[in-house]
Amino acid sequence: MDSFQSLRFPFSGASLAVKIFILSAIVAPILSHGISAQPSPASAPIILTGADRRPAISLNGDWGAILDPYFSGLFSFHHQEKANGWFLNRKAKPDDPFPTEYDFAKAPPLKVPGDWNTQRDSLLYYEGPIWYEHDFTYHPKENTRLYLHVGAANYRSWFWVNGKKVCEHEGGFTSFNCEVTQAVHDGANFVVAAVDNTRLEDGVPGLETDWWNYGGLTRAVSLIEVPRAFIDQYDLHLARGEDANIEGWVHLEDAQPGATVEVEIPALSARTSTTIGDDGRAVIRFPVQGLERWSPDTPKLYKVNLRAGQDAIEDLIGFRTIETRGTEILLNGKPVFLRGIAIHAEAPYRTGRANTDKDAETLLGWAKELGCNFVRLAHYPHDETMLRAADRMGLLVWSENPVYWALQFDNASVFQKAEHQLEEEIGTSRNHAAIILWSMANETPNTEARTHFIESLASKARALDSSRLITAALLVRTQGNTKIVDDTLGQALDVIGTNEYVGWYEGHPESADTTEWHIAYQKPLIMSEFGGGAKAGLHGADQDRWTEEYQASIYRHQLGMLNRIPQLRGMSPWCLMDFRSPNRPLTGIQDEFNRKGLISDQGQKKAAFSILQKAYLDKSVGKPD
Ligand code: GCU
Repeated sequence: MDSFQSLRFPFSGASLAVKIFILSAIVAPILSHGISAQPSPASAPIILTGADRRPAISLNGDWGAILDPYFSGLFSFHHQEKANGWFLNRKAKPDDPFPTEYDFAKAPPLKVPGDWNTQRDSLLYYEGPIWYEHDFTYHPKENTRLYLHVGAANYRSWFWVNGKKVCEHEGGFTSFNCEVTQAVHDGANFVVAAVDNTRLEDGVPGLETDWWNYGGLTRAVSLIEVPRAFIDQYDLHLARGEDANIEGWVHLEDAQPGATVEVEIPALSARTSTTIGDDGRAVIRFPVQGLERWSPDTPKLYKVNLRAGQDAIEDLIGFRTIETRGTEILLNGKPVFLRGIAIHAEAPYRTGRANTDKDAETLLGWAKELGCNFVRLAHYPHDETMLRAADRMGLLVWSENPVYWALQFDNASVFQKAEHQLEEEIGTSRNHAAIILWSMANETPNTEARTHFIESLASKARALDSSRLITAALLVRTQGNTKIVDDTLGQALDVIGTNEYVGWYEGHPESADTTEWHIAYQKPLIMSEFGGGAKAGLHGADQDRWTEEYQASIYRHQLGMLNRIPQLRGMSPWCLMDFRSPNRPLTGIQDEFNRKGLISDQGQKKAAFSILQKAYLDKSVGKPD
């Protein structure tokens, strides 16, 4: 009832019914048009390439946080958006004629970055809105714009600065940047965010996932200053072919046509300068001498300076080519076999969303120890810290858009959401040499609507980035002891990914010995998932499910089977480390963790770890490269 009490009425003598009627006549038109009751509509967030390479004012740390399961901080009792919602961060005054029923300063904090589920036992299962508030000091500068950079907010989020709406976003695994130049004051400021991890039927992902729905501001949040005209996105990569030519483009936001862009690689004494066109984009192409190509064995990164007007970015980029030739995957023109492992962004030891350099180094360090040259980062775009570490450590990456299991594939707005997440994923991470594959989806049903949906996504991805390969993890059909990979979606892919669980969800480990494969496509195949569950430390006979011995037996038999698939060019067993999942309740064994890791969430290596490690280090699986 409070929204009514907060407003001063000229008709104070009139009955409540009359007041309600007058009010709805005035306010309803304002509120019916979508979510913002703010004077000026908030601008849509933008994508910034290499945002983590720009100087930034960190907003990480403790944020006052208030749970709001009914979202009453934003919606009135008639579910209309409030003009005086909690985004005002109002402080109660003694003579207020109405109560203020929230106070961020008194509210127990939540850490940012971080999911809220693992910060308090009471929040482990919480799905709904939580409000965040953080104070910061800022002094605006001449010719300077300010952006609020959000590494990720799961799932829907709304942001206000000093009570002014600055943006809203949907999608839990990609970064976005909201302009706050007009909203900040000189001196004391505050930012309020509402984050809601409620799963949506028309969401991307949808209602069902085999990972924990970690909510919150799960990745770093900061303020980034840029000049009036600035570099928002850029793409720099090595052109396919013999000669070493760097090609790509640089896009300037709000620059005058004809503005100049300069790209320089000091270590190679190479630089180019060119002008932007009417679309704000400068096309880049220049030769380089003495380039050391990036590869897992030689993860060479170059400092690259980009300059345009008042703006400058120094990025760290590796240069390599990736392509296919028949059923071969060629890295820098040579056939490569992808010895991989699948990884969720689950933090080792503490569990929860991974978001630190340490998390990345631990997870990718284990992958290197396993003998990997490749990782499948599942099932959503991972943090820039993970991708920077993969660049540094020399691990090829499969990056995935969270089109997972069943979505409303015939719903145009769902397509737009998936397409937008793809734009953010590619726009943000396009210059990582480590990323060789953009995966469009995982285990989606073979229906016409689905195929059309993902074919359109794949064409979008090719339009955004023609220098990488497009893949997806397909389901297989079974006829007798033959696995058949002929999902129609395969036609739209450069590389076929396929998931199978011979020995776990079907049959026994030795069933793999008699399993044949029929692949309907003359394309490289990656076995993007296989494996089985084991509780670390639980031992028994090879045929005792959940024991380390059973899991190890699955791997032994799988490796034999995989070597019998002629066009196998890679694999990413499921998975590196146990991870939290709401679908895994088996008490004493799973305890809400998917136990298919080769390592437990507490770092205990299971027997199967050394089985796979030996095969990778001996290169006894897959075609030797
Ligand atoms: C599926 C799915 C994974 C899931 C795994 C499992 O294939 O892609 O997300 O965790 O199987 O069942 O463990």
